[in-house]
Amino acid sequence: MPYRIPERTARPRRYLMCRPTYFTVEYAINPWMDPGRPTDTALAVRQWERLYALYGQLGHTVELIDPVPGLPDMVYTANGATVIDGRVLVANFRHPERAGESDAHQTWFEAGGYREVRRAAHVNEGEGDHLVAGRRVLAGSGFRTDPAAHAEARDLFGLQVLTLALVDPRFYHLDTALAVLADDQVMYYPEAFTPDSQALLRSLYPDAVLADQEDAEVFGLNAVSDGRRVLLPEAAKALAARLADEGFEPIPVDVSELFKGGGGPKCCTLELRP
Ligand code: ARG
Repeated sequence: MPYRIPERTARPRRYLMCRPTYFTVEYAINPWMDPGRPTDTALAVRQWERLYALYGQLGHTVELIDPVPGLPDMVYTANGATVIDGRVLVANFRHPERAGESDAHQTWFEAGGYREVRRAAHVNEGEGDHLVAGRRVLAGSGFRTDPAAHAEARDLFGLQVLTLALVDPRFYHLDTALAVLADDQVMYYPEAFTPDSQALLRSLYPDAVLADQEDAEVFGLNAVSDGRRVLLPEAAKALAARLADEGFEPIPVDVSELFKGGGGPKCCTLELRP
């Protein structure tokens, strides 16, 4: 039988973003950050604004949290919390440089009428390491989020939480090595995971889209999918072609300035699931 390209369905989403008003690289907590290399905050803001506008054009809703002076990484809202069924698990950052972001997020969520807002007891970097795929949460550990945090997420959300172990410091958050494309489909870079975690991913998603090293190194996996449209860094050319073959609509975005902090489109986007 000839191969038929699967039909993909987009679902309108609600996101939380933070304008990179105070973005810069003044410390290094991942291998991509180099405080000696100049950053252009105005350019970061322009790139971010295009991403923000794009979500609106695609029919999504974006809420904003105010940036805080002295918290240059706050643009990466994906790390601030995990939000499922109106329940919020607020991040508890590994590095003191980002600790202030937890309070900012907690205050924002408490004012937002969420069902429950809980501060994580263990190191937990939000959606950077907790990716929601249908009624399952894929949870990364190895560099940032403590595996004990996965049990806490299971307890709060009442969902299956599967631990995936990361091994390459360049892919320090799960969302740098894996993206959820649809409730039952993901793409990932196998070499970023331990052999056991690779085997688990193969058994869960036998038809997953696999990224090669080149696409992974330009953060091609730091992508945001609404079920059909997939926003990903424009440098990830081969991966975009592969997504199109699978029935997705790749939308290349330029976030080169925000990449200097070790983040891409997904890092700048926290999904709110009321
Ligand atoms: N400089 C930030 C850090 O190292 C980048 C965070 C990127 N966010 C993400 N979801 N991967 O913590």
